[in-house]
Amino acid sequence: MIVVEAKQAREKLDMATCIKLMREGLSALEDGSAMQPLRSVNKLPHGNLFGFMPAYLGDGNYFGAKVITAFHANAGTEYPSHMGYVMIFESVHGSFVGMADCGVITEIRTGAVSGVATDLLAVRNPKKLALIGAGAQARSHLAAMLVVRPGLQQVSVYDIRPEAAQKFAEESEEKYHIPVQVASDVESAVRDADIICTLTPSKDPYLKLEWVKKGAHINAVGTFTPVTREVTSELVAASRLYADQIEAMEKEAGEYLIPLSEGLITREHIKGSIGGLLTGRAEGRTSDEDITLFDALGLAVEDVICGRYLVCGE
Ligand SMILES: NC(=O)c1ccc[n+]([C@@H]2O[C@H](COP(=O)([O-])OP(=O)(O)OC[C@H]3O[C@@H](n4cnc5c(N)ncnc54)[C@H](O)[C@@H]3O)[C@@H](O)[C@H]2O)c1
Repeated sequence: MIVVEAKQAREKLDMATCIKLMREGLSALEDGSAMQPLRSVNKLPHGNLFGFMPAYLGDGNYFGAKVITAFHANAGTEYPSHMGYVMIFESVHGSFVGMADCGVITEIRTGAVSGVATDLLAVRNPKKLALIGAGAQARSHLAAMLVVRPGLQQVSVYDIRPEAAQKFAEESEEKYHIPVQVASDVESAVRDADIICTLTPSKDPYLKLEWVKKGAHINAVGTFTPVTREVTSELVAASRLYADQIEAMEKEAGEYLIPLSEGLITREHIKGSIGGLLTGRAEGRTSDEDITLFDALGLAVEDVICGRYLVCGE
């Protein structure tokens, strides 16, 4: 049995490779060769969670599941708040092949999926990227955006903890040799931005329509429950909206369900999924004036395909 721990997973799963894997996984999900039921999350005592996210990859060779705990009281202790593995099985006899650390996979694949969405939906020559939230996802998203839009010239970052934004800016300037400006609020961070990534666990929507430039592409990543969101209803209503999986968006995405319940949008507001764009079934940006919005929930197929790559090398 193979076990790929976090350090090894981080060394092997580079962003460009992960973006290729996400294209493969999301296309397979769209054409029906890959399958995944909706995830199940079991509630444990003290508000703790135990999640199971299975997927069949449709490659004829492998299937698996992300098995993960969320113990929020771990924050600030020696234990991370989320822990677990992506477990990989082979399809001939159903035997267990191995497992890979799910923290690194989740971190990298989330940026990579936004990379695929951005490549398909953003304007061709964006200049400014804005990142809201300066945590692990800001790092993953900056890496992904620079793979798909290497001509970006400027990055701005805002975090409610200025010291986190400052640390991120210093690290990123050194790593990528691109100017990273720390913004004092969301409005100034997103001013004139061609690509905006919202990467926070905010309980309230904070990204407003009047601050967003026409033609911008937004990756809304930080929240993933029916009652949480980062983007205001007015901005969702003014955007072309894309899902990672439409069924999941209809069940789980506050960014869609809240403006729907307010009567600001209808079911037809969802223009398609990223897999739909990859397979030509969905229509993307129709002009340089469109605001496009990708809302990420996170899918088991994304985790399992990374697990396959780390455990089986394919
Ligand atoms: N959709 C998905 O597939 C997916 C996958 C992974 C993580 N996430 C979510 O993305 C978010 C970011 O994840 P992470 O790993 O980077 O977390 P993190 O804890 O490393 O970083 C989050 C950062 O956001 C900042 N922040 C919190 N509230 C803010 C606000 N209102 N405005 C500005 N900054 C704020 C925090 O200070 C922190 O620096 C989390 O909510 C996480 O659950 C989603």
